[in-house]
Amino acid sequence: MHVRARRYLALLAALAPVARGVASSSPVGAGASTQAREALRRRNLAIISHPDAGKTTLTEKLLLYGGAINQAGAVKAKGEQRRATSDFMELEQQRGISISSTVLAYEYQGYKTLILDTPGHQDFSEDTYRTLAAADNAVMLIDGAKGLEPQTRKLFEVARLRRLPIFTFVNKLDRPSLSPLQICDQIEAEFGIRCCPVLWPIGSGDRFKGVLDRRTSVVHLFARGARGAIAETVAELPLNSAELREMLNDDELHAQLLEDAEILDELAPPLDLAAIASGDITPVFFGSAMSNFGVQLFLNAFMQLGLPPAARAVEDGGAGAAADFENGAIEAGTRVVQPTHAEFSGFVFKLQANLDPRHRDRMAFVRVCSGTFEPGLRVKHSRLKGKELTLSQVQSISGNERTTLDEACYPGDVIGINNPAGTFAIGDTIYTGSERISYSKIPSFSPEVFALCTNPSPSKYKQFAKGLEQLLDEGAVQRLRERGDMDGGAGAAPILAAVGPLQFEVVQSRLQSEYGVDVTLERLPFAAARWALAGWGAVEQATADGKLLGVRKLEDTWGRPVLLFPSEWKLNSVLADCTTLLQLRPYAVAPDIEERRRK
Ligand code: G4P
Repeated sequence: MHVRARRYLALLAALAPVARGVASSSPVGAGASTQAREALRRRNLAIISHPDAGKTTLTEKLLLYGGAINQAGAVKAKGEQRRATSDFMELEQQRGISISSTVLAYEYQGYKTLILDTPGHQDFSEDTYRTLAAADNAVMLIDGAKGLEPQTRKLFEVARLRRLPIFTFVNKLDRPSLSPLQICDQIEAEFGIRCCPVLWPIGSGDRFKGVLDRRTSVVHLFARGARGAIAETVAELPLNSAELREMLNDDELHAQLLEDAEILDELAPPLDLAAIASGDITPVFFGSAMSNFGVQLFLNAFMQLGLPPAARAVEDGGAGAAADFENGAIEAGTRVVQPTHAEFSGFVFKLQANLDPRHRDRMAFVRVCSGTFEPGLRVKHSRLKGKELTLSQVQSISGNERTTLDEACYPGDVIGINNPAGTFAIGDTIYTGSERISYSKIPSFSPEVFALCTNPSPSKYKQFAKGLEQLLDEGAVQRLRERGDMDGGAGAAPILAAVGPLQFEVVQSRLQSEYGVDVTLERLPFAAARWALAGWGAVEQATADGKLLGVRKLEDTWGRPVLLFPSEWKLNSVLADCTTLLQLRPYAVAPDIEERRRK
């Protein structure tokens, strides 16, 4: 059995008696410590999907059923009012796309649920990856008419990289859809993960009547509710009842349902918590977020099947690790910190400037991994070699709402820490106790597009430098420069590197709206970047050998050599010739240094 699954089951056993029924007002038994009980009632999830599959709609419906909002229309309306709770930046509102990710938290049936919103557009995959680093569960949303789409595939791989349990919600069944078996086959064939259908659809399009809950063999028939309203369940009937046939009033659908149920009982794997946790199976739900078919059933099932905060891998620890650090861990040799570890620890997965443009603030989003966080806690900064900080200005965040945190936070929670002096970088760990904790770093994705960023008005240099610095800190794009160009932009225009062009558009728009600077961006004809981990000596050697003709040599924020290749072909030829000499890598992580960051 996969170690994550083993650890999860061990945690549950250790906390017995644990009542995990959704009907219970308190999902966790009284035998455990407050920290363990609170951790165990956390359920967080990140939704990954191709744009337009219905992520915003599903998010708002989850909030609606969770009681966090009263009416779906209150959050996302049509046309000019189009704006979701999670979309707060001007550009997002204008374009109706979600760029930056945020956090939505609410209480549901005794569980604290956190939805970590991820941007759907592929150009922001890196932001999604960082957010997934903070999540314990991923929900893969698929448009039932389209099946797997390019961005579903890409984000599935990202979730896989993070080893997250994956739940699948197949949406828009109120429209003519692919057959549910076809969709499951596609998932299994392409992703190598077995599907365990939990909610199985009865028909699609105009004939979509409801879903079979395979766990109980009960069929839930719905009535189409008004848009935005909670759907009415007309009836809940046993699969094999005569009433079901009568109420369905469609012999073909009824026969199909019975046949499907039989096939699934024979072929589908059992709904095994350990197999979900290890990513061997994905529980699959069919429904329609817009018409509310199946959304609440999904939410209830997720409370039961979703993972509470899991143990997290640490980079290093040295000898004498604390007793509740588990040896062996996620992969042989990796060490982890359990959520039940008594000392506080957490890591920064996101930085955001100007969440509230009136205050020009900078916020570090920290995922709590162990211990208890209380405002005023004195913590150590792992990358800054244990430098101590008192965290008094801490916010709790939900969408664009922020309130001063006045209660304890537990593993699985996300807190916002003011970051005015740029003390935090993405991936930084903070912790208490004598044992240094440093969670595995979050690597940057390899940039694929490059642009020269020029500020045409010298009088605005200060705003330009400040805005750019803050956006770079957030990881909105990366900055490269000529070797030895220490002033980073006063003289030479910086080169920006991104995964997708929309990231440039965001930087340009935010520099304009948040810092009042109109920059011009000129695309540069490079196709790929690689970090030369062997250092400048090796780069000089390869240059002298004539291997780097047409390759531009720049340095990153930390002075490390980055090579830009004009084509994949050139990249491949350098890889073939100089792999050992240059040690090329598609990405690099922030080095552990006494903050000697060269701007
Ligand atoms: P996204 O965040 O993944 O990009 O998708 P979003 O929720 O914005 O949904 C994309 C479109 O799909 C929206 O239509 C939305 O109403 C529609 N949609 C979402 N869920 C369902 C569903 O279950 N059934 C059907 N039939 N449609 C669904 P739109 O026309 O682009 O916007 P709007 O005018 O409806 O707001």
